[in-house]
Formats: sequence, structure tokens, C-alpha cells
Amino acid sequence: MLQKNKKMALKNINPTTTNAWQKLTDHFNENKDINIKDLYKNESRQKDFSLEFGDLLVDISKNRITRETISLLVELAKEVDLKDAIEKQFSGEVINVTEGREVLHTALRSNSDEPVLVEGKNIKPQIQSALRKIRSFSNKVISGKWKGYTGKSITDIVNIGIGGSDLGPDMIVESLQFYKNQLTSHFVSNVDGDHVSEIMKKLNPETTLFVIVSKTFTTQETITNAETLKNWFLKSATIFDIPKHFVAVSTNLEAVDSFGIDKANVFPMWNWVGGRFSLWSAVGLSISLSVGFENYRALLDGAEEMDLHYRNTDFNENIPVILALLSIWYNNFYEAETEAVLPYSQYLKKLPDYLQQAIMESNGKGVDRNGDKIEYQTGTIVWGSTGTNMQHAFMQLVHQGTKLIPADFIGYKESLYGLSDHHKKLMANYYGQMDALAFGKSKEEVHLELKFSGDTDKIASLLPFKVFEGNRPSNAILFDKLTPRSLGKLVAMYEHKIYTQGILWNIYSYDQFGVELGKELAKKLLKAQ
Ligand code: F6P
Repeated sequence: MLQKNKKMALKNINPTTTNAWQKLTDHFNENKDINIKDLYKNESRQKDFSLEFGDLLVDISKNRITRETISLLVELAKEVDLKDAIEKQFSGEVINVTEGREVLHTALRSNSDEPVLVEGKNIKPQIQSALRKIRSFSNKVISGKWKGYTGKSITDIVNIGIGGSDLGPDMIVESLQFYKNQLTSHFVSNVDGDHVSEIMKKLNPETTLFVIVSKTFTTQETITNAETLKNWFLKSATIFDIPKHFVAVSTNLEAVDSFGIDKANVFPMWNWVGGRFSLWSAVGLSISLSVGFENYRALLDGAEEMDLHYRNTDFNENIPVILALLSIWYNNFYEAETEAVLPYSQYLKKLPDYLQQAIMESNGKGVDRNGDKIEYQTGTIVWGSTGTNMQHAFMQLVHQGTKLIPADFIGYKESLYGLSDHHKKLMANYYGQMDALAFGKSKEEVHLELKFSGDTDKIASLLPFKVFEGNRPSNAILFDKLTPRSLGKLVAMYEHKIYTQGILWNIYSYDQFGVELGKELAKKLLKAQ
């Protein structure tokens, strides 16, 4: 058994054996039929169930919860000693037990001088030095001082990576398009050769910079794409030109060297940063190149703001903790299987894809911290798309289907270009959808509506199809404005939600052995060909 052989950095508590779980089960049985519409008869509900943190407002009033639900869920978090787990993560204990690693993406964005020790050594100086390297390199490329092999400045950046080495930077670059400079960013990830071919079509080797991002530098997709692009580049240039056009982000210096990349062009990665939490490290180089180092730093600062909130705020007011607990309430008590993430900003169209890896690779586990098979549900399935487009796509099912799908609605008070007519309509839809989900439309209302529209003869045949049951939960996550800082805060909020859920479910969120078997079999099949 794991705990006999390893130092257990995290406590090992089956949540279903706690007193709080028992109380929650009783509470659920007594209250499972509560209706959000009835709860809203209390006029102060929205105010009472809103959490404010600077430019962020999280309204959880449209959930099937009472004050007692929250206090029992918080009791559960206390009983599994979430506080201890949070402290252990931030202070650099080996909480990724199965891989024997610390989990320190929070240290990457920290502005404090407080040392964080890994194997007895403070890692803060290496983080600062990597940030200085990112800043100086980004400045040179953006200003045009960095020249390609024919003396021209760089116009295009190609990020070559997959999973955490692609999804994070790609999502952030897309989300911060408004803040983007003159460089054009491309992301190659799939081993499907048509992906890289389509991108190659758009490139000029003289003015393209390739950023190969791979923590291990062994990932089949990334190395294949990098080799293809190197060969394409070498059709016009020579191997002596590679240093001007290829840089790498990796922990595997030997492999980077044998690929032919100059030592000076290697940006560090560390084992204490998980791939899907790595955009805050040099994996974010493409972000800094795309929006400039100052904006990149602001992204990190926003994430740090959320880190401090998560680490220091009482669970009752702690946004990531409350969101995680609500998710557990629906997943483990109401047996909801999925959650939707619905950003009302076209800029955030890649957020659901990014969160799928972050959430599902982390918490898609069926074995607990004891190594035993789990008898309760873990890992939520997350999916989504942007409003208002999705209203014309899958929202029918969310409103009237048979499944319970809790949804996060992410919105902004201000738009970036200031087209106020558009923004008013966008936000009317944002609130309209949440109201429709929560309050629905009763038989009586449909009846009256049909009567007043002169369709009295259709009442009998149409009424059941036009009824909206309502009572469908949502969280309103509202920021003042989409900025690098608020985006950092949003992403860190989800990261902490993930860890909180992993702790509550008694699983290890930071390994991903489930992706290995498919890789192995693909390799075998390839050899056999
Ligand atoms: O899909 C598995 C995985 O290990 C992810 O966790 C990681 O983000 C991705 O592969 C890429 O790995 P690397 O950065 O080592 O190429």
C-alpha cells in the first residue's frame, strides 16, 4: 500500500466516512426538492449569496443551496483538513506523492521574498532569473532587434507543443488578443501532418521564430512537428542559422542539445511544475512574445492575487473553495455528470478546451490516496463554449433536457472596444440565460402567454413543450474587464478549484498515468508497421 512505503504528504480521508458527509446526505434527502424560485422569495438572497473579491463578483444565489448547505460543505472541507493541504502545496511539500514531486506553480507568480524550498534549496532565485530571461528575449524579438538569418526581424512565432505545453499558452494568447503586438502567433500541436502543413504554408523561414515547448522533450507529437519544421527551415537555411530561429523550453537539456538548439536559447522548466499548470513558467514564453512581458507579468500578478485569496480566506468566503464545494454538491449528491463553462466573451473561446485538460487530467482518477478503488464519483466532465453562440447550439438541452448541468457563466461589465449597444445585448443574454435556467416558465405562464397571443386553440397541444421547469443551477462569475490581470485571476481560480476537489475526493490531482497506456500502444503499433 502506498502509505506504508511513502511519506504521506497529504492526509488520507475517505470523504464519505466523515460526519459532514453523513450530515450532507441527510440534508440532501430532506432538501433535494428545494426550488431556486422559492429560495429567491428571500429578497436579500442574491446579496447574501455573493462573494466579492476586488474586480470579481461571484454570485452563487442561483444554486439549489441554503446557508446550511454551505455550512455543511465547509464542515466537510474542514473535516478532510483542506487547510493543511493548501499550506502543504504552497510551502513545497511533496504532495504529488505518486511522482515524488512538489507542486509549485504558485511560486512562479509569487512576488514575495518568502523562500520556497525544494530539496533544501530556495527556488525563488531561479524563477526570477527565468523571468529576466523571458523579459529580455521578448523585448529583443518584439522590438525587432533579434534578427533572422538574412538580417530581417521576426514576424511570426510558432509554438510547438501539446497538452499543457500548448493549451495554456494558446488559450491565453487568444484571450489577450486585444493586447497583442505586431507578431503573428501560431500553435502547432497535433501529430496530424495536415496541422503543421497548414501552418507552414503561412510562414517565411527568414522571419519565423520556433518555440519548442516540451517538459520532457520526448513527446512524440512535439518532436515530430519540431523535426518537420526544422527540415522545412533547413531547405532555405543552414544548421548554423538554427540558433537565430529555434528556442526551447524544457527540463531535458540533453535532448534539446541533440536536437541542435543552442544552450543560450534554452528556457528552463522544472519538475515541480505540472504540465497543465505550466503557463506561468517559461512555457508562457509565447504569451510574453505575443503581448509583451509587462502584460505577461500582470497575468502572473492576477494569479498571485487569487493565490493569496485562496491561501488566506475563510472557506465561507473563499471563491475557489466555494466553487469546488458546489461542484461536489452536484456531482456527489445530485449525481450531475457534467459542468458547463460558458464565457460571454469571444476572446475566451479556448477556455473550455484548456479547462478540459486542467480539470479532467487532474481529477479523472478512480483510485484514492490509499491506492484503493473509489466507490464514489470523482472528476467532473467539463465542456462549454461562448455566449451567445452556444445559445443557438446546445443550450436547448441545458434548458429543457433531462440532464442536470450546473453552469459557470463568465462575464465582463465592460467590453474592450466599447461597442455599448453590443455589450448591453451580450449582458442581457448573460443574465437572461441564468434567469431562464433558474426560474423557468410555469404551465400557468405558458397558458396565459398562449391565451394573450390569440393561440387559445393551441394551448392543449403546445403547453407541455413550452414549459421550462427551471431550477437549473448556475454561478455568475463577473469581472469588471478582461485584462491580463483579471485573466490570471480567473485561471488561478479554476486551478485552486481543481486542487480543492482533489483533496475532498481523496485523490492525487497532480499525476496523469491514465494518458500513458495509449501512448505505449501507439508506439508498439508504430514499431510493428
Ligand atoms: O498528455 C500527457 C502530458 O504529459 C501532459 O500532462 C503534458 O501537458 C503533455 O503531455 C505534454 O508533455 P511535454 O511538455 O513533456 O511534451
